[in-house]
Amino acid sequence: MTDAAFIIVAIDGGAASGKSSSSRTLSDRFHLLHVDTGSFYRAITAELLRIGVPAADLAGVQTAVKHLALGTRVAGRSAQMEIGGRVVPDAEIRTKQVNDNVSHFAAIPEVRNALLAYQRGQADVARTRGFRGVVMEGRDIGSVIFPNADFRFFLHADPEERARRRASEGGQDSIRERDRLDSSRKTAPLACPDGAVSIDSTHLTLAEVVELIAAPIAARLGPL
Ligand code: DC
Repeated sequence: MTDAAFIIVAIDGGAASGKSSSSRTLSDRFHLLHVDTGSFYRAITAELLRIGVPAADLAGVQTAVKHLALGTRVAGRSAQMEIGGRVVPDAEIRTKQVNDNVSHFAAIPEVRNALLAYQRGQADVARTRGFRGVVMEGRDIGSVIFPNADFRFFLHADPEERARRRASEGGQDSIRERDRLDSSRKTAPLACPDGAVSIDSTHLTLAEVVELIAAPIAARLGPL
């Protein structure tokens, strides 16, 4: 963030608020590393369930997360989490079981702590690989992970519209329940951070959302 040519863009919001689509588009447009932190929580959830540690087993979770060997693989412009040298594939992190459990794991402070330095370290991954910056999406990026990010946005949309979007992607996801859990947890709850730009995407197209976010970034970075 001290390097004027390298930018950090934080995009927070609830499930199916348009974060992923807009982050991917921005990543392509400005050559930023795309970091989907929800996929990290999902990968850890899939791994802990695979080794038989449910979220209710707090002591088990606390021990298990200490022993996870986390790495990063860059595929195209996206950062993928490796656990024990293996990327947990999309098919394993987008299951109903993971949808139903991820918010419970994400509410555990030790799980969030295990991911804190890892997420901040994605900026170094991006610098090393020659990206112009990072676009990182999640729930607490502009509040906890990068409170001094160059750009911070918070996306939201009516629950009905978000459920419609998720269903049209073929997803089975109880968005309201996950948002309720994510917003009411004690550690790093989902909320628009002070000073972030709040965008209601209910009646906007993806292109319109992207333009709102891209305009100030383009003004800073200039043409590619
Ligand atoms: O973005 P997503 O729906 O794939 O995220 C999955 C879950 O991970 C979400 O229910 C809450 C959690 N999460 C979080 O707590 N903090 C983040 N920065 C990203 C995701």
